[in-house]
Amino acid sequence: MEYKNIIVSFEEGISTITINRPKSLNALNVETLNEIECALYEIKNENKTQVLIFTGAGEKAFVAGADISTFPTLTPEGASAFVDLGQRVMDMIESFPVPVIAAVNGYALGGGTELAIACDMIYASENAFFGLPEVTLAIIPGFGGTQRLQRLIGRHLAKELVFTGDKIPAQRAKEIGLVNNIFPQAELMVKVKEIAKTIMKRGPLAIRAAKRSMIFGMDHDLKTANEIEKLCFITLFGTEDQREGAKAFLEKRAPQFKGK
Ligand code: CAA
Repeated sequence: MEYKNIIVSFEEGISTITINRPKSLNALNVETLNEIECALYEIKNENKTQVLIFTGAGEKAFVAGADISTFPTLTPEGASAFVDLGQRVMDMIESFPVPVIAAVNGYALGGGTELAIACDMIYASENAFFGLPEVTLAIIPGFGGTQRLQRLIGRHLAKELVFTGDKIPAQRAKEIGLVNNIFPQAELMVKVKEIAKTIMKRGPLAIRAAKRSMIFGMDHDLKTANEIEKLCFITLFGTEDQREGAKAFLEKRAPQFKGK
């Protein structure tokens, strides 16, 4: 499909979705969210991607939030449809079958932080800022921000960010466990692709199973979550890759995984 608001690229097992509205700091409007949803379906159905990366076009922003230009006339019905779409996209990212990495190359505010925290890992450039400034607009985060952030960094820190609306720099985001690591902006994509390539050397079915276990186990009690882990674990013992992984280790050679 042809996209106007995003750029989708694929290289050596890695798909990248670049939000491409730099004039409005890559703000998420309905069209952009629709395109992201379409791209996620396409990438999933093609089944050749092992790691998906999200980033923003330009050097200033990852995503500066939902597109505020539509807000002055938005009705509760319109807001409901908008949030349904945004939450659906974030849920799809979170439960996407392969790892999704946010390469945050600048402002990640509101919907931008929400997009980043729906991803499995977040790497940021030195100039990145995170935050949920919705209350400065007299609204609240609507794409899962009030829920995912407190699960990720704890209730008190999440409430501080939600109630103050303050922006925090990448370094502070790393200190509170929001960001995995920080790189100079010019190196961000190279470093993120290196991390993606490390993941791609591992058993691809195991990576999918590990993600499934962690995502679907997270919000259950430990007993149920461990049962989910067990189901994911035992499934792998019917795969060629599992046999190959153990054999390669015992024969002291590198494994040749086939994703079977
Ligand atoms: N929506 C629409 N347009 C936006 C935007 C947004 N979220 N963020 C920035 N823009 C536009 C600006 O209006 C401006 O457009 P013009 O050049 O036409 O005037 C352009 O992008 C550049 O922005 P600034 O001039 O403001 O750039 P700056 O460097 O002075 O400031 C910023 C950068 C701090 C990120 C500032 O733009 C800003 O605060 N943006 C809004 C951030 C925000 O409040 N996000 C939350 C949105 S609500 C939300 O996301 C709800 C939800 O949970 C779903």
